[in-house]
Amino acid sequence: MKILIINGPNLNLLGTREPETYGSKKFEDYFADLQFRFREVELSYFQSNIEGEIIDHLHKSVGEFDGIVLNAAAYTHTSVGIGDAVKAIEVPVVEVHISNTHAREEFRHKSFIAPVAKGVILGFGLQGYDLAIQSFINSKK
Ligand code: DQA
Repeated sequence: MKILIINGPNLNLLGTREPETYGSKKFEDYFADLQFRFREVELSYFQSNIEGEIIDHLHKSVGEFDGIVLNAAAYTHTSVGIGDAVKAIEVPVVEVHISNTHAREEFRHKSFIAPVAKGVILGFGLQGYDLAIQSFINSKK
């Protein structure tokens, strides 16, 4: 099984960015843990601060990946384009957020991805990515 993790803007700063909200682990270190824990899955990781690059990677995932774990970060709340791309591809997408966006500012309550995602996981810290990957494995069983 091949799964692609896509992280959106500012998530390259995990570890130092608002650690009280996002924790103090770098995503690269966490990704290495994920690869160790899910040895049966071929995991890939892409991060971009550029909306169009995220859309391009969603398009390119067709025929390449069995599932996508997408944390579009701030674009979640603004990007009709990313929502449309998720709708356009047949690859299932699980939306993940590290923080509980519903417990934060009102502008973070809106998601353009949730209505077209397979499911949404939020508020469990980095563990949300584990849960999303596990959900893909469980639905293959
Ligand atoms: C986030 C929540 C977003 O509102 C925010 O813009 C982020 C990170 C999260 O993972 O909790 O950058 O997606």
